[in-house]
Amino acid sequence: MSDLLDHATTPSSPPATTPDPWWRQAVVYQVYPRSFADSNGDGTGDLPGITARVPHLVSLGVDAVWLSPFYPSALADGGYDVDDHRDVDPAIGTLEQFDEMVATLHAAGIKVVVDIVPNHSSNRHRWFRDALAAGPGSPERERYVFARGRGEHGELPPSDWTAVFGGPAWEPVGDGEWYLHTFAPEQPDWNWDHPEVHEDFLTTLRFWADRGVDGFRVDVAHALVKDMSSPLPTAAELAADDLPDGAHRFWDRDEVHEVYRAWRAVFDEYDPPRTAVAEAWVATHRRARYASPEGLGQAFNFDLLRSDFDAASFRRVVEENLRLAAESGTSSTWVLSNHDVVRHVSRYGLPDGMDEAARARWLLSGGTDPAPDLERGARRARAATAFLLALPGSAYLYQGEELGLPEVADLDAAVLQDPTWLRSGHVDKGRDGCRVPLPWTAEGPSHGFGPGPSHLPQPSWFAAHAADVQDRDPRSTLSAYREALAWRRRLRTGEELVFEDAPEGVVRFRRPGGWTCVTNFTTRAVPLPPGRVVLSSGAPADELGGELPGETTVWLLPAD
Ligand code: GLC
Repeated sequence: MSDLLDHATTPSSPPATTPDPWWRQAVVYQVYPRSFADSNGDGTGDLPGITARVPHLVSLGVDAVWLSPFYPSALADGGYDVDDHRDVDPAIGTLEQFDEMVATLHAAGIKVVVDIVPNHSSNRHRWFRDALAAGPGSPERERYVFARGRGEHGELPPSDWTAVFGGPAWEPVGDGEWYLHTFAPEQPDWNWDHPEVHEDFLTTLRFWADRGVDGFRVDVAHALVKDMSSPLPTAAELAADDLPDGAHRFWDRDEVHEVYRAWRAVFDEYDPPRTAVAEAWVATHRRARYASPEGLGQAFNFDLLRSDFDAASFRRVVEENLRLAAESGTSSTWVLSNHDVVRHVSRYGLPDGMDEAARARWLLSGGTDPAPDLERGARRARAATAFLLALPGSAYLYQGEELGLPEVADLDAAVLQDPTWLRSGHVDKGRDGCRVPLPWTAEGPSHGFGPGPSHLPQPSWFAAHAADVQDRDPRSTLSAYREALAWRRRLRTGEELVFEDAPEGVVRFRRPGGWTCVTNFTTRAVPLPPGRVVLSSGAPADELGGELPGETTVWLLPAD
């Protein structure tokens, strides 16, 4: 047994040597700034709020934070409608406060990743306002995707395409021209055939890298480049199942990788090179191109997030993604929750087999039909998280999951902010239920989120999940996350993983140094494999009595 494991009975604070580069096996914590911590009581989270909560991130043991957009924005899409990519929204802070936050995080040994939104700007962006003012045929319009409408006076949209949030993907501007918005109408798409758009994003990347930012999360990285040549296909033609790879007019076109090769050159101007992770909702076999070292270097893998809590599915996802990551010379990423999906405690408490549409119907019922089993959801969520944290590669955690927060599924329609609600014709309530400001304390205004209210209402049951309550409880989800992250840090070595035989419904794999992770996905107990349990997602190790209970993960060191 290695020295590392020999005396390993409790997690120690000094980190093991992190393999270079830092991001390959990092634990990255996603902060959704408007809902993390509010320092001034205006109801919106802000940068000083994040700085003040760095001790929480330190005690959790994360390696990096990724900040969702904090740029000036009218919040038509939670900040993903960016007015100016090189500034901070006054409601969130100032550039000086950004620098202070980065310095505090860096002093604590935590890297900083910011969100870059390159598919679209907001309709308040200076270049978009210039485009509207300059009129049809002007060079200003060339930076966006404008097209003349059909019909004698351009009164019909150039095509019947629909936007991701619902409704038409084209918006008229009153002079016969329409602009393309893949998302909300307030998010006009850039024209990536335009050299000034390229240049402007290189400037933005350098702007943040020069301020000490360590990496970038690239929003809808599989969009950007579009083929707008005539005739435009119909929506039905675009949705055809037999469309060859790279042939869609606006998703996942091969040319987008030229953009990322240029970005890579900028990242490599820095020492250490800046990193990036692509948000690319593409078929698994197309992901490697985004993750390649000549491109962004890493890509989100949402396969676990889309799987039921099921042994065969989890194992298949891990095998496939480790193979793909190795083929493209990078490490895999793992995600169970983020700001766009129903929190995984709730997902796992709902019947298996529900897809996104079924979950939207569930949200519409106020989270009552079907009624989730949240105790089970929490148990499975902790087991799945311990499974994920045992994997090689980067783990992405979403703020509040360390508190075991379920989705706030009964938000009143009157308070909803997500454009999905309106654009879907009040069918899809959208993503606000995972964006409710965090409960830091059981008592006090907005449960310690800030000295004032919170921009989305917190339910009273948030008190039981508050960080200060969990901090004192060794069996809380917060304690479980801290313990798992400490052990992960201590055990972190090479990226190899070997599956071992296990009973049906159980997944067991071994990591370098000989430690193993075993997850029982079934509801009945199975015998514990040999070894010393150092981490359990359920009952503490000394209460297991030789058995691995259902829906539980343990990490074992080789027996002495
Ligand atoms: C990404 C973001 C999402 C946003 C969309 C449009 O998917 O994660 O929150 O609405 O891009 O920018």
